Amino acid sequence: MKSLLQTLNGTSISPPPIWLMRQAGRHLKEYLDLRSQAGTFLDFCYSPDLAVEATLQPVRRYGMDAAILFSDILVIPDALGQSISFIPGQGPCLSPLNGRTGIDQLNPTNLHKHLAPVYESIRRLKTLLPKTTTLIGFAGAPWTVATYMIEGGSSKDCQKTRAYAYEAPDDFQVLIDLLVETTAAYLICQADEGAEVVQVFDSWAGVLPPVQFDTWVIKPFQKIVEAVKVAHPNLPIIGFPRGAGLGYVTFAAQTGVDAVSLDSTVPLAWAAEKIQPHTIVQGNLDNLILRAGGHQLEAAVREILTTFSARPFIFNLGHGILPDTPVAHVKQLLNIVRGG
Ligand code: CP3
Repeated sequence: MKSLLQTLNGTSISPPPIWLMRQAGRHLKEYLDLRSQAGTFLDFCYSPDLAVEATLQPVRRYGMDAAILFSDILVIPDALGQSISFIPGQGPCLSPLNGRTGIDQLNPTNLHKHLAPVYESIRRLKTLLPKTTTLIGFAGAPWTVATYMIEGGSSKDCQKTRAYAYEAPDDFQVLIDLLVETTAAYLICQADEGAEVVQVFDSWAGVLPPVQFDTWVIKPFQKIVEAVKVAHPNLPIIGFPRGAGLGYVTFAAQTGVDAVSLDSTVPLAWAAEKIQPHTIVQGNLDNLILRAGGHQLEAAVREILTTFSARPFIFNLGHGILPDTPVAHVKQLLNIVRGG
């Protein structure tokens, strides 16, 4: 069986499977070459030729144990009709939702038609990936996607969204419910087409106090996991509530995910004691240590391996790989993890 699937089935293996969040992308020269052939970033995501190639690049170069589909979490707001563009050097730019009127204008009717090229990429990848490589599909979690839709792009602390959730909780709930429904449907279709694992990214889970964390992170996750498991009972689901801190325990216990992806601020010994006995963990090397390389990288990787290896675990970063990370450091990481 493929190493990532073995781990997600609860078997501890040595060396552990390894893949890196955002492994397809700007740290690779071949990605930048490919990127220059596409028009906008969304054109890239919706071109099966280019998206398939970008997905395969890190597998070819490094022999990663998993390939993560090349796409973005913001294809969902795009498919719902919110206008969105990616400005080079600035990141995503959306026309911010204008209160309840804006929410009511979102339209899921063409969701799957709009996302058909993503499903086509998955179908092609199934035939192209090496037999040992697991294909991971993904989506953003409702809370995180809602922050982009309301802020109009990336923000430091998601103030507008948090304020809106306090001031108009019923309206915000309508948006979250729409995202729960469309995200679950999207993940189910990815699995129908051949995604073997899915990861749900809640990159901004860490800005919420406990009560709101329960309402806007835990509850929507529970609903998504439940819906996806009805259609695909054996599909492993990895949740990434970045920055959740102590909330990782509740998240692991209550959402029904099969594995949790830990960010780099989570203390290793604490996670081994509080989370690993109950759930498979993934993580959590600091992406800046990977960029720095050298002895610090070696020491940090060994500590993660030593702490987590007694139980099933997946080696990964605590957040996505940074664009200026040297390829040599990624190779160094793989050598250490694989016993070189
Ligand atoms: O390699 C992979 O992981 C697969 C592809 C992937 C992308 N985005 C491609 C991408 C994945 C899994 C994502 C997830 C994603 N997108 C998240 C969750 C993970 C995280 O990093 O927290 C979020 C919040 C987004 C939204 C997003 N997309 C932002 C904020 C940005 C701009 C900043 C940045 O990191 O580039 C993007 C653009 C984006 N998504 C690029 C890529 C390769 C860069 C586009 C380019 O080529 O210029």
